[in-house]
Amino acid sequence: MTDLANKPVDDLTEAEAEAELARLAEAIAAADIAYHQKDAPALTDADYDAMRRRNDAIEEAFPALVRVDSPNNSVGAPPAEGFAKIRHAVPMLSLAKAYTDEDVVDFLERGKRFFQKDEGLEIAFTAEPKIDGLSASLLYENGVFVRGATRGDGAVGEDITANLRTIADIPHKLKGSGWPESIEIRGEVYMTYAEFQALKARSAAAGGQDYVNPRNTAAGSLRQKDASVTASRNLKFFAYAWGATTADPAPTQYEAVQKFKDWGFAVSPLMSRAKSVEELIAQYHKIEELRSSLGYDIDGVVYKVDQLELQRRWGFVTGEPRWAVAHKFPAEQAMTVVRKIDIQVGRTGTLAPVARLEPVTVGGVVVENVTLHNEDYIKGIDSNGLPIRGDEAIDIRIGDTVVIQRAGDVIPQIVRVVLEKRPADAMPYEFPHECPICKSPATREINEKTGKEDSRRRCTGELICPAQAVEGLRHFVSRGALDIEGLGAENIDLFFNAGLVKTAADIFTLRDRRPAVTKALAERREEQAKIREAASGKARKNVRSVEDRNYEGLDKLFAAIDARREPELDRFIFALGIRHIGETTAATLARTFSTMEELIRVGKETAAAEDPKSVFPSVDGIGGTVIEALVDFFGNERNDDVLDRLLEQVHPKPYVVNVSADSVVAGKTVVFTGSLEKMSRSEAKAMAERLGAKVAGSVSAKTDILIAGPGAGSKLKSAEALGVEVITEDEWFARVGK
Ligand code: IVH
Repeated sequence: MTDLANKPVDDLTEAEAEAELARLAEAIAAADIAYHQKDAPALTDADYDAMRRRNDAIEEAFPALVRVDSPNNSVGAPPAEGFAKIRHAVPMLSLAKAYTDEDVVDFLERGKRFFQKDEGLEIAFTAEPKIDGLSASLLYENGVFVRGATRGDGAVGEDITANLRTIADIPHKLKGSGWPESIEIRGEVYMTYAEFQALKARSAAAGGQDYVNPRNTAAGSLRQKDASVTASRNLKFFAYAWGATTADPAPTQYEAVQKFKDWGFAVSPLMSRAKSVEELIAQYHKIEELRSSLGYDIDGVVYKVDQLELQRRWGFVTGEPRWAVAHKFPAEQAMTVVRKIDIQVGRTGTLAPVARLEPVTVGGVVVENVTLHNEDYIKGIDSNGLPIRGDEAIDIRIGDTVVIQRAGDVIPQIVRVVLEKRPADAMPYEFPHECPICKSPATREINEKTGKEDSRRRCTGELICPAQAVEGLRHFVSRGALDIEGLGAENIDLFFNAGLVKTAADIFTLRDRRPAVTKALAERREEQAKIREAASGKARKNVRSVEDRNYEGLDKLFAAIDARREPELDRFIFALGIRHIGETTAATLARTFSTMEELIRVGKETAAAEDPKSVFPSVDGIGGTVIEALVDFFGNERNDDVLDRLLEQVHPKPYVVNVSADSVVAGKTVVFTGSLEKMSRSEAKAMAERLGAKVAGSVSAKTDILIAGPGAGSKLKSAEALGVEVITEDEWFARVGK
């Protein structure tokens, strides 16, 4: 986990926000796939929700950076291959979430505002447990179960009729009478703890697989090709909603669910009706109290508007009904003991303390490590010297019993130290003043702006520090940097540890050391085979492994390295891993200085100056922090050598501002707003600038063109007011001939 992932949204720079949105989009998509298709939990719900919330908060703070593949532009993951696809006639939605009582108050207030014109109208609600299983949609025609599907991505699910038929709570024929001619009954398939434990025990006895939790096991059970396997899992089902129907089951949610019960379905016995926030929250607490005795997982309470007429009027937002909300239960907490405190060293030399814990299960996952952030955090104070855990500064010591929590934050955290349990001999932790890896002094810098000490202690060893060096190399080959295919973190570690790559320049001479590279890869292959052998207890078979392919793929790797010998200047600058220089700043520097030689010249001149800020040219988007970082980098002789050697191997392309005569936008001031679909905003900006346009951040009388994508807001309004020409992204590309 990088520091960036934990940085408060308010403190993010635009470049960091962009990087975070990219990371979150990828992580959320992967989690969606794990959750919907593979039945393997990559994350707990709390972690997942925390990522979604962070994503939403960043999108709100930086609306211009919203990605085309934003997690908010899709619901769930597409269905896996294997079962026939079924398009839901009425989409299967998700629910908005509430985490606090205030969120619930807001929900009711929104309702009141929406219906304010209807005098005397009383909105009623239902409250029912949110079952932690998988939703399914069951089609009944003339009372007969004809087809059933998973939720899938909400629009298209999978036909799992045969498997659903094995579930005792799902009637094959509806009982009673009065059912619509055709109706899709929707609800949750789940597995009880008892059934889960029994399955685990059976599997352990037979030497079979391990099962992680009831939800994922239920998901796996539902997607069996052989329905008799599903039958053996004794899944359960609660009906709580419906999709396409030829007639409303009843005028209210509550009565509809009672009908389902009459027709032979299992329904939650904990569903009730309420009219006020107080009543809803009382229900929430009642259900929360019962939670541990239910025998199956629930993760919150769902409130729905009771009257169907009002549901219809209040309607939907993308993927969610406005008339319902899931009030989630708070993060789970657990107590454990701090066994050890380790210090990790990051790319920029930050000493990051990590508490090694007695393993403990919180919210369904085992937690063994938790970040302690920095020296002050361990002492129990924040950057202003104020206590962070309770009213007094309580430090964390090895041997302490601590309460940890997962939720709200992406990572688990220590919320409290249980002082009553502190061992008599526990001593305050002494934060090292030297780097645990290279033994260089580790210092806390003074922030020039605030005059305060930085909360992080950093190793001053820079490139002589192996920890920083290897992190720096990983960064050098990473996606936004040189992006060398086949040279990921794993291979970098291998080559670094084998002494084959010490600095970035060595990557480009690897081919000359082919025998040594081959040997390192072969040794790793050997080691991994041994590990596999030991783990499986079986003798080795002669199978082609991934490592084999790597080994044989050496030519490919060398070719991939060669392909990056003339990188774009901005990528190259970013790849150097200079502190505070993210992708955006690197691009600005590339545009400003055009060649690496010029950047080095100005960097050195600035570093040698008494007052660096008076020497460095004034550039939009480059402030004091970046100038200082450049001074540190170019003022450090060790970097000279590394950079010289690197530039013997790699020749960054000069940044060409192609103000071609035929560019229709040369000299024009343009502004981008709303979301772009064809390229990222930074790319669009760079392209416009290449064509000689000036890209501004806001609309003014000087603006010539506003390129407005979907979701454009105030900028579009001001452009219209000022009579500025407004065009779409497509029109822009048509004009610039892309
Ligand atoms: S109602 C139109 N009720 O939660 C609203 N959903 O976050 C449709 N869930 O996909 C959902 N218990 O899998 C509803 N009592 C309940 C629920 C429930 C669990 C699940 C369901 C849905 C997800 C939405």
